[in-house]
Amino acid sequence: IKCLPVEKEQTLIVVKPDGVQRRLIGQIIQRFEQRGFKLVGLKMLQVSEDLLSQHYCQLTSKPFYPRLMEYMTSGPVVVMVWEGHKVIQSSRMMVGHTNPAEAQAGTVRGDFSLHVSRNVVHASDSLEAALREIQLWFPGKELLNWDCIDQYITC
Ligand code: PPS
Repeated sequence: IKCLPVEKEQTLIVVKPDGVQRRLIGQIIQRFEQRGFKLVGLKMLQVSEDLLSQHYCQLTSKPFYPRLMEYMTSGPVVVMVWEGHKVIQSSRMMVGHTNPAEAQAGTVRGDFSLHVSRNVVHASDSLEAALREIQLWFPGKELLNWDCIDQYITC
């Protein structure tokens, strides 16, 4: 069998406070599992302004920045690292356009949200961003490298 190259990557996905409050965590995780990606990091936290300002450091001059900070600290978030072939690009497609009004049906934002200021999820937008964001949210050795262990499990 001829094999095509696998470009294994990792990306950071955040279920934002509106996603948590609307009980969407499970449905979002389900989409990534169903697609075939592997979950290697997961936690729920009330994000600090310090971490968030580092995460959004390129947006400080945007008019919406103060509101974005207020929204993202308004309740807990669920942050995850997903791994797999071209996961960065695929997850951006799965999450949909930043502005839900322009997001296609079938995407997370296209199915679950209305307004850019409450767009349910974050997904890293490039390899550089993914590396930086994963380092920031999961410092040290927090990510798990796991594999299917035996013949009784279908992976
Ligand atoms: S920009 O202006 O092109 O840099 O913005 P964009 O890349 O589209 O979005 C960057 C992040 O800012 C969020 N965003 C907003 N939040 C609140 N209110 C408004 N009006 C708004 N516009 C953009 C957007 O969701 C992006 O955050 P993440 O976490 O990546 O989704």
